[in-house]
Amino acid sequence: MPAGCLPGGAEAGGRRVGFRGLGPPGPGRGSGGGGGSAGRRRAGGGVAPAAGPGRGAGSRGASTLVGMAPRMTRPVGSPTRGTTNPNRLRRMDRWIADAHGADLRRADAPPVAVDLGYGAAPWTAVELLDRLRRDADPRTRVVGVEIDPARVAAARPYAREGLSFAHGGFEVPVDGPVALIRAANVLRQYDEEQVADVWGRLCGRLAARGGLLVEGTCDEIGRRHVWVALGPEGPRTVTFATRLGSLERPSDLAERLPKALIHRNVPGEPVHAFLRDFDRAWAAAAPYASLGARQRWIATASSLAGDWPLTDGRRRWRQGELTVRWDALAPRGWSTASG
Ligand SMILES: C[S@@+](CC[C@H](N)C(=O)[O-])C[C@H]1O[C@@H](n2cnc3c(N)ncnc32)[C@H](O)[C@@H]1O
Repeated sequence: MPAGCLPGGAEAGGRRVGFRGLGPPGPGRGSGGGGGSAGRRRAGGGVAPAAGPGRGAGSRGASTLVGMAPRMTRPVGSPTRGTTNPNRLRRMDRWIADAHGADLRRADAPPVAVDLGYGAAPWTAVELLDRLRRDADPRTRVVGVEIDPARVAAARPYAREGLSFAHGGFEVPVDGPVALIRAANVLRQYDEEQVADVWGRLCGRLAARGGLLVEGTCDEIGRRHVWVALGPEGPRTVTFATRLGSLERPSDLAERLPKALIHRNVPGEPVHAFLRDFDRAWAAAAPYASLGARQRWIATASSLAGDWPLTDGRRRWRQGELTVRWDALAPRGWSTASG
């Protein structure tokens, strides 16, 4: 069992990774706009989306319990708003192909990628297949997994060689370990305290060698993203990605922080200090603006790298990306369980 894993709670075909994760909500939590979450912790560590105002008209609230036997009949989680758009996740797809392409190609069998919670239309799953086949590994297969059965039925006519759709939830109803799980704009509608549990489940479904989970949030047309990348052992990095022309300052991205971080953008939390430094470096790089926003972003990232553990470099910065180690941004009190 890899470091960071806890035994127990196995799902269909997977182990369960335990994170102590985030403590209960307390005073002083940020109001970063995390999707209007008003959720509650379920007895037994269940996973249900946030309830109450702000969940959106599409919410149906059919909650399920976790800790069920393998091959359970009800998927883990609940349907939420299905908002999606063509090309919305192109930045994430590009990053995945670049960061994960070598792992996908290394796999003996054709790699299986899961687009978890693809929404009201299957655009993001179709595009993930096309981009991974083109830019990473032509053998890739994509399974779109949705918890709302009507959305699965609506997607099935788009199935084709290498692309299928399945009804399911965080248990990920796909045979065997998977090379990639991408969950975009899904956890946003759950509670912060549920994140560690969901991450643990999803990490437990990854291939032990080279498996990757990408979980994050973006705006409706994909100009601003923030995502966390996790391996089988737990969270590794946080990536900020943006269309540079649309950016006034880096902290504009705060409203797209993933659920694990969005409520932590308050003084005293690492992500708040990071965004503060990011804005300062951006301001100091103002003279580069005459050369274009890209040059300004690159100068900003170079300066930020002096104080923060960035894991990428100029090649990715040119794309309007910046990736930092998770442990530098992890919420206070966060810890990945070590058994
Ligand atoms: C806002 S849409 C996101 C669509 C797409 N991923 C995107 O970013 O454009 C969220 C979707 O996730 C689905 N969902 C929520 N919880 C889920 C779960 N546990 N398993 C699978 N799908 C889930 C919802 O039903 C909804 O269709």
